Amino acid sequence: MSTSRIAITGVRSIAIEQADPERAARFYTEVWNLSEVARAQGVIYLRGTGGAHHILAIHPSHGPARMRSIVLSARDRACVDALHVRVAAGGFAPTVAGERSAIDGGYGFSFRDPAGREFEVVCDAHDHADDAKVADRPYKIGHINLNTAMIEPMTHMLTEMLGMRLVDNAGTQFFFNADNPDHCTIVLCRYGMETLNHVAYEMPDLESVMRGTGRMHDAGYPVEWGVGRHGPGDNVFAYFCGVEEFPLEYTSEVLQIDETYSFHGPDFWKWPAGRLDQWGVTPPHTTRWKRVQTLYEFAR
Ligand SMILES: [Fe+2]
Repeated sequence: MSTSRIAITGVRSIAIEQADPERAARFYTEVWNLSEVARAQGVIYLRGTGGAHHILAIHPSHGPARMRSIVLSARDRACVDALHVRVAAGGFAPTVAGERSAIDGGYGFSFRDPAGREFEVVCDAHDHADDAKVADRPYKIGHINLNTAMIEPMTHMLTEMLGMRLVDNAGTQFFFNADNPDHCTIVLCRYGMETLNHVAYEMPDLESVMRGTGRMHDAGYPVEWGVGRHGPGDNVFAYFCGVEEFPLEYTSEVLQIDETYSFHGPDFWKWPAGRLDQWGVTPPHTTRWKRVQTLYEFAR
């Protein structure tokens, strides 16, 4: 993508609230294969092997487990400021852009989407020098899928405010590309609730997705849908109900695109009867997955 594009560059991290943060941290380190990097004021921070200081912050919940916020990355301060102007002009009442007090520092602002979900846009945060992809360990958050009944206002926010590009639409799913080569970074799912659909952690390769799937199975978290290869994005997928029924995906081999990629709509992304992925190997998703992919509310 062009370096002059004013757009977010990816998902830096998410913050979640769990009833038992210690148990959740054990799951994310021992089974999901993240690493703990810090603890402060009751919050546990976990990293992938990529450079981001952390990709997951686990807060204690004071009610049902839920999503807290999504932290998006931007290239530099000029880009953050340009995005801030757009978000303010769009009527989203962002906080003043400035130095963050967060554990990973940086410069940015926050705002709430049309459904009240909290987003942050951040640059210049403290990152790790080591950022290599490591077999069988998540590298970064690849994409986040949000359920919404407000496809049009959410699409307007993602494209006109955050500079993302709608690159595909398959049935209820709308795929948005950030300023990076990954096919999509945010996906919207047309649904009657403003909840989380799932969070996808990117593994270095197919072998890692398979190893992770086996490790999840051994730990009592069987695959709920997959393993398969999606149509849009061409990525390998395996979906799980994680600790506290958090909807999780291991993914890899995401299609890399540039500005020449052309949009295809639902008529193009149709499977033959009985097929749910490119390989034709995954069974239908479980009833439990269907329930869990609408379960997580956002703090508002
Ligand atoms: Fe996904």
